[in-house]
Amino acid sequence: MKKNLLLNSVHDLIRCNTSSVDVLVDATLGNGYDTLFLSTIAKHVYAFDIQEKAIQASKKRLTGITNVSFIHDSHEKILEYVSNFKGIVFNLGYLPGSDKSITTLADTTIKTLEQLLPKLPIGGFVSITVYIGHDQGKLESAAVEAYLENLNSNYEILKSTIFNKRSAPYHLFIKKNN
Ligand SMILES: C[S@@+](CC[C@H](N)C(=O)[O-])C[C@H]1O[C@@H](n2cnc3c(N)ncnc32)[C@H](O)[C@@H]1O
Repeated sequence: MKKNLLLNSVHDLIRCNTSSVDVLVDATLGNGYDTLFLSTIAKHVYAFDIQEKAIQASKKRLTGITNVSFIHDSHEKILEYVSNFKGIVFNLGYLPGSDKSITTLADTTIKTLEQLLPKLPIGGFVSITVYIGHDQGKLESAAVEAYLENLNSNYEILKSTIFNKRSAPYHLFIKKNN
């Protein structure tokens, strides 16, 4: 994955809010770049993807790394596998270089957030990188923002954008403070 200002800032925020005893969840494994990063800062990472292709590519990328569990299932089912997480990381959209119709969907993403936010510990977080360069991504972005706007003040939400690139991906970081 190409490093840029946004990705550096996403990783910095995640790093600042994670310690080496924490469990993290990658809700959208894809090609495994985020999971690889998370595996270097957390005790264990549970990584989910609905595509076997993504699981295989990531297992290859993370050969030799022992603190990652790869789970071929939808992120809606995260709570069936893991409960004691400090943070959840979403990188929405489709698998780069693959079938663009297999993408994260607004309904599923919101359903997952509804289940997981109440389970976050104090100090826990959800990181969501949102892509608005494709139609489904625009719908998902609008739905996620509409949902987050109504979260109560126990949560703080930071939105980071590349100011001079209107259709570039952007980042939402939700932290549970109370
Ligand atoms: C933009 S890619 C993720 C990129 C990845 N984080 C990386 O570092 O390479 C989005 C991924 O989400 C996956 N996905 C879509 N819907 C999903 C769902 N309901 N549960 C889990 N993964 C899903 C897609 O198969 C795709 O691999």
